[in-house]
Amino acid sequence: MDQQQTPYFQVLIDYVDAGVIPFHTPGHKQGLGMDAAFREFVGDNVLAIDLTQIRGLDDLLQPTEALVAAQELAAEAYGADQSFFLINGSTSGNQCMMMAALNPGEKIALPRNAHKSAMGGLIMSGAQPIWMQPEVDQTLHMDHTVTPETVRATLDAHPDTRAVYIVSPTYYGVAADLEGIAAVAHERGIPLLVDEAWGPHFHFHPALPLSAMQAGADMCINSTHKMLGSLSQTAMLHVQGNRIRLDRLKAVYKLFLSTSPNLVLVASLDVARRQMATEGSALLSRTIEIANDARARLNEIDKVYCFGEELQGRPGVFDLDPTKVTVTVKDLGYTGYEAEEILRRRYNVQVELADLFNMLALFTIGTSQEAADALVSGVSELAREDRPLDIFSPSGVLERRLKSSSYLLPTIPPTRMLPRDAFLAETEFIPFRSSKGRICAEVITPYPPGIPVISPGEELTTEIIEYLLLEKRAGTKMQGPYDDELKFIRVVR
Ligand SMILES: Cc1ncc(COP(=O)(O)O)c(C=O)c1O
Repeated sequence: MDQQQTPYFQVLIDYVDAGVIPFHTPGHKQGLGMDAAFREFVGDNVLAIDLTQIRGLDDLLQPTEALVAAQELAAEAYGADQSFFLINGSTSGNQCMMMAALNPGEKIALPRNAHKSAMGGLIMSGAQPIWMQPEVDQTLHMDHTVTPETVRATLDAHPDTRAVYIVSPTYYGVAADLEGIAAVAHERGIPLLVDEAWGPHFHFHPALPLSAMQAGADMCINSTHKMLGSLSQTAMLHVQGNRIRLDRLKAVYKLFLSTSPNLVLVASLDVARRQMATEGSALLSRTIEIANDARARLNEIDKVYCFGEELQGRPGVFDLDPTKVTVTVKDLGYTGYEAEEILRRRYNVQVELADLFNMLALFTIGTSQEAADALVSGVSELAREDRPLDIFSPSGVLERRLKSSSYLLPTIPPTRMLPRDAFLAETEFIPFRSSKGRICAEVITPYPPGIPVISPGEELTTEIIEYLLLEKRAGTKMQGPYDDELKFIRVVR
């Protein structure tokens, strides 16, 4: 296929060029009815192609025209049998993958560090999670991926498992041995689903980890908006082989996606695919070079550490994405949160996320050398300061935790009910502090990094309660609970 073509972007341009008189949605009518200040800021063109799916502009849920070609081009570029454009991020991709592969009550083996949107998939599908423990890195205080050995042991213990689900790469860019895991899953005739939200660029450069499709996964999702040039909310779902029923996947896709997709978003997927297919290798070479150079310079700063290739081979670290730069600041005596705040306030640099020990800087095809220099100089200034701020730790709890040598993520609590059953059960609100022993009916996810600490159907243990109170004191935002303050929690009645 001709990867220079952008069939969907083209039909939008053709519609604008034809000067059609619009008696259709959206109500702003290609910008004329839009608030003037907004229109002036975003520009006329983007509003002119904010159209609806009328004649010639195809239908994302039932494509027959340009969207067939656009998605076929994407499938070819990603080495998939079929690709589907998503307009509600990898969040909807996770929901689609689980709903397509599983029936209520069926078991799925998945890592505990799955993104909270995987919980949405579990609740909707009614599947039973068999949690796998990802490898824990005590030095960096973070989770990596699960190994093929863990997958094998899990499937041995639960031979009736119907699908394996893996997150690779992690937020921090650590990739799993997907080929090894695919072999284990396929030996037993079950599919491998991969949340590759953070790896939409892998397929386009040999120095990056193997992509999920290359590694033989049956289905994967890519948040193209996270690391490539498509607009926020856009993502893709890829499928190959015959372990996933396409008719079921298509039915699920139609169930979850809007009947009014934003066509600007859809077109941005078309052009992001062209960019990767035609210039991806060159663009990514430059990105990798800038990131590796920044990593080397950051590592020269006293007490700052950015992990790199030396990590490869540690448990759960099969490969690494060099475009993710994790700046470990704990030896400076800062929490990652404090360092993030100082970098932003004093040096106007904003990182992607901070946790207790690290900050994560994303380098993409949009990162300039100047931006990289600003990050390096901000961190080097930060390292020179005498720890003047103590933003989040009035009680000193965090300092004790920073000094403690072991990684304190709580152990996975016992599962008492299916996530779906607990989520939909009769519930009541009780004080969080005294919720020990009750069955949780909501997801609680400190954000970032977006990993659920407790999920519907699990028992609230002392360890979980204490951990969440600590994160709360550290200023971490909690996603999921009805009560943002976490004074109360919804439990099964
Ligand atoms: C591993 C992982 N999967 C899925 C998602 C959801 O992706 P999106 O924001 O594109 O909906 C995220 C978001 O951060 C993520 O980190």
